[in-house]
Amino acid sequence: MEKKQNSRVRGQRLLKSMIQRLEQQGRLGQEKNYIQHGSTTVFAHSVRVASLSLKLAKRLRLQVDNKALLRGALLHDYFLYDWHEKDRSHRLHGLFHAKTALRNAKKDFHLNKLEENIIARHMFPLNPIFPRYKEAWIVCLADKYCAAEEIIRPFLSGRRLRNLLKYLHV
Ligand SMILES: [Fe+2]
Ligand SMILES: [Fe+2]
Repeated sequence: MEKKQNSRVRGQRLLKSMIQRLEQQGRLGQEKNYIQHGSTTVFAHSVRVASLSLKLAKRLRLQVDNKALLRGALLHDYFLYDWHEKDRSHRLHGLFHAKTALRNAKKDFHLNKLEENIIARHMFPLNPIFPRYKEAWIVCLADKYCAAEEIIRPFLSGRRLRNLLKYLHV
Protein backbone atom coordinates (compact mmCIF):
# COMPACT_ATOMS: atom_id res chain seq x y z
CA MET A 1 0.00 0.00 0.00
CA GLU A 2 2.77 2.41 1.02
CA LYS A 3 4.81 1.35 -2.01
CA LYS A 4 1.81 2.08 -4.24
CA GLN A 5 1.34 5.54 -2.67
CA ASN A 6 5.04 6.34 -3.05
CA SER A 7 4.97 5.47 -6.73
CA ARG A 8 1.86 7.65 -7.19
CA VAL A 9 3.55 10.58 -5.44
CA ARG A 10 6.69 10.07 -7.55
CA GLY A 11 4.55 10.05 -10.71
CA GLN A 12 2.76 13.27 -9.73
CA ARG A 13 6.10 14.94 -8.90
CA LEU A 14 7.52 13.93 -12.26
CA LEU A 15 4.41 15.28 -14.00
CA LYS A 16 4.67 18.60 -12.12
CA SER A 17 8.33 19.05 -13.00
CA MET A 18 7.65 18.17 -16.67
CA ILE A 19 4.90 20.79 -16.83
CA GLN A 20 7.19 23.44 -15.33
CA ARG A 21 9.99 22.60 -17.74
CA LEU A 22 7.74 22.63 -20.82
CA GLU A 23 6.22 25.94 -19.73
CA GLN A 24 9.65 27.50 -19.18
CA GLN A 25 11.33 26.10 -22.28
CA GLY A 26 8.41 26.33 -24.68
CA ARG A 27 4.86 27.57 -25.11
CA LEU A 28 2.89 25.04 -23.07
CA GLY A 29 1.51 27.91 -20.94
CA GLN A 30 -0.17 29.37 -24.05
CA GLU A 31 -2.54 26.41 -24.00
CA LYS A 32 -4.21 28.01 -20.95
CA ASN A 33 -5.68 30.62 -23.33
CA TYR A 34 -7.50 28.13 -25.52
CA ILE A 35 -10.59 26.04 -24.79
CA GLN A 36 -10.47 22.40 -25.82
CA HIS A 37 -13.80 20.81 -24.83
CA GLY A 38 -16.67 22.31 -22.81
CA SER A 39 -15.01 24.65 -20.33
CA THR A 40 -11.71 22.74 -20.20
CA THR A 41 -8.65 24.52 -21.56
CA VAL A 42 -6.20 22.73 -23.85
CA PHE A 43 -3.66 22.99 -21.00
CA ALA A 44 -5.96 21.35 -18.42
CA HIS A 45 -6.95 18.68 -20.96
CA SER A 46 -3.30 17.88 -21.71
CA VAL A 47 -2.43 17.63 -18.01
CA ARG A 48 -5.40 15.30 -17.45
CA VAL A 49 -4.35 13.12 -20.40
CA ALA A 50 -0.78 12.93 -19.05
CA SER A 51 -1.95 12.04 -15.55
CA LEU A 52 -4.37 9.38 -16.80
CA SER A 53 -1.72 7.93 -19.14
CA LEU A 54 0.59 7.39 -16.19
CA LYS A 55 -2.19 5.77 -14.15
CA LEU A 56 -3.16 3.51 -17.05
CA ALA A 57 0.42 2.33 -17.56
CA LYS A 58 0.68 1.51 -13.85
CA ARG A 59 -2.71 -0.20 -13.71
CA LEU A 60 -1.82 -2.34 -16.74
CA ARG A 61 1.61 -3.04 -15.20
CA LEU A 62 3.33 -1.93 -18.40
CA GLN A 63 6.99 -1.06 -18.44
CA VAL A 64 6.99 2.34 -20.12
CA ASP A 65 9.30 5.29 -20.58
CA ASN A 66 7.54 7.57 -18.07
CA LYS A 67 9.38 10.69 -19.16
CA ALA A 68 8.51 10.23 -22.85
CA LEU A 69 4.95 9.18 -21.95
CA LEU A 70 4.39 12.40 -19.99
CA ARG A 71 6.16 14.72 -22.44
CA GLY A 72 4.27 13.23 -25.38
CA ALA A 73 0.95 13.44 -23.53
CA LEU A 74 1.55 17.04 -22.43
CA LEU A 75 2.44 18.06 -25.99
CA HIS A 76 -0.13 15.95 -27.87
CA ASP A 77 -2.39 18.96 -28.53
CA TYR A 78 0.37 21.58 -28.92
CA PHE A 79 -1.38 23.17 -31.91
CA LEU A 80 -1.52 26.59 -30.17
CA TYR A 81 -4.61 28.23 -31.64
CA ASP A 82 -8.29 28.51 -30.77
CA TRP A 83 -9.90 25.83 -32.94
CA HIS A 84 -13.36 27.33 -32.30
CA GLU A 85 -12.42 30.51 -34.20
CA LYS A 86 -13.50 30.52 -37.81
CA ASP A 87 -10.26 30.71 -39.76
CA ARG A 88 -9.12 29.00 -42.95
CA SER A 89 -6.03 27.64 -41.19
CA HIS A 90 -8.20 25.89 -38.55
CA ARG A 91 -10.31 24.02 -41.09
CA LEU A 92 -10.58 20.26 -40.55
CA HIS A 93 -8.93 20.72 -37.16
CA GLY A 94 -9.68 17.13 -36.15
CA LEU A 95 -7.79 15.77 -39.12
CA PHE A 96 -4.78 18.06 -39.13
CA HIS A 97 -4.05 19.27 -35.61
CA ALA A 98 -1.80 16.32 -34.66
CA LYS A 99 0.51 17.29 -37.50
CA THR A 100 0.46 20.96 -36.42
CA ALA A 101 1.11 19.97 -32.79
CA LEU A 102 4.12 17.89 -33.85
CA ARG A 103 5.50 20.70 -36.02
CA ASN A 104 5.19 23.22 -33.16
CA ALA A 105 6.64 20.82 -30.60
CA LYS A 106 9.65 20.09 -32.84
CA LYS A 107 10.26 23.82 -33.14
CA ASP A 108 10.40 24.26 -29.36
CA PHE A 109 11.82 20.97 -28.06
CA HIS A 110 14.15 18.15 -28.99
CA LEU A 111 11.80 15.17 -29.21
CA ASN A 112 12.72 11.50 -29.33
CA LYS A 113 11.01 9.03 -31.69
CA LEU A 114 8.60 7.89 -29.00
CA GLU A 115 7.43 11.41 -28.16
CA GLU A 116 7.03 12.20 -31.86
CA ASN A 117 4.91 9.10 -32.38
CA ILE A 118 2.71 9.88 -29.35
CA ILE A 119 1.89 13.32 -30.76
CA ALA A 120 1.59 12.29 -34.42
CA ARG A 121 -0.66 9.28 -33.79
CA HIS A 122 -2.90 10.41 -30.93
CA MET A 123 -5.82 10.98 -33.33
CA PHE A 124 -6.01 7.33 -34.40
CA PRO A 125 -8.42 6.12 -35.82
CA LEU A 126 -9.53 9.48 -37.29
CA ASN A 127 -5.96 9.69 -38.62
CA PRO A 128 -5.86 6.07 -39.80
CA ILE A 129 -2.26 5.17 -38.99
CA PHE A 130 -1.67 2.95 -35.95
CA PRO A 131 0.39 4.24 -33.04
CA ARG A 132 3.75 2.42 -33.08
CA TYR A 133 4.65 2.24 -29.37
CA LYS A 134 2.73 1.19 -26.27
CA GLU A 135 3.21 4.70 -24.87
CA ALA A 136 1.49 6.13 -27.97
CA TRP A 137 -1.41 3.66 -27.58
CA ILE A 138 -1.83 4.64 -23.92
CA VAL A 139 -1.97 8.37 -24.71
CA CYS A 140 -4.35 7.72 -27.61
CA LEU A 141 -6.75 5.88 -25.26
CA ALA A 142 -6.38 8.36 -22.39
CA ASP A 143 -7.10 11.22 -24.82
CA LYS A 144 -10.35 9.58 -26.00
CA TYR A 145 -11.50 9.02 -22.43
CA CYS A 146 -10.68 12.57 -21.26
CA ALA A 147 -12.24 14.16 -24.36
CA ALA A 148 -15.49 12.19 -23.91
CA GLU A 149 -15.64 13.07 -20.22
CA GLU A 150 -14.98 16.77 -20.87
CA ILE A 151 -17.67 16.92 -23.55
CA ILE A 152 -20.28 15.13 -21.44
CA ARG A 153 -19.50 16.83 -18.10
CA PRO A 154 -21.35 20.15 -18.75
CA PHE A 155 -24.49 18.18 -19.51
CA LEU A 156 -24.20 16.26 -16.28
CA SER A 157 -24.16 19.21 -13.90
CA GLY A 158 -26.82 21.24 -12.15
CA ARG A 159 -30.34 21.10 -13.50
CA ARG A 160 -29.50 18.72 -16.35
CA LEU A 161 -27.99 16.24 -13.92
CA ARG A 162 -31.00 16.45 -11.63
CA ASN A 163 -33.31 15.92 -14.62
CA LEU A 164 -31.30 12.96 -15.84
CA LEU A 165 -31.37 11.35 -12.40
CA LYS A 166 -35.12 11.98 -12.20
CA TYR A 167 -35.56 10.47 -15.65
CA LEU A 168 -33.56 7.42 -14.62
CA HIS A 169 -35.50 7.19 -11.34
CA VAL A 170 -32.24 7.22 -9.37
FE1 LIG B 1 -5.92 16.11 -30.21
FE1 LIG C 1 -6.37 15.73 -26.80
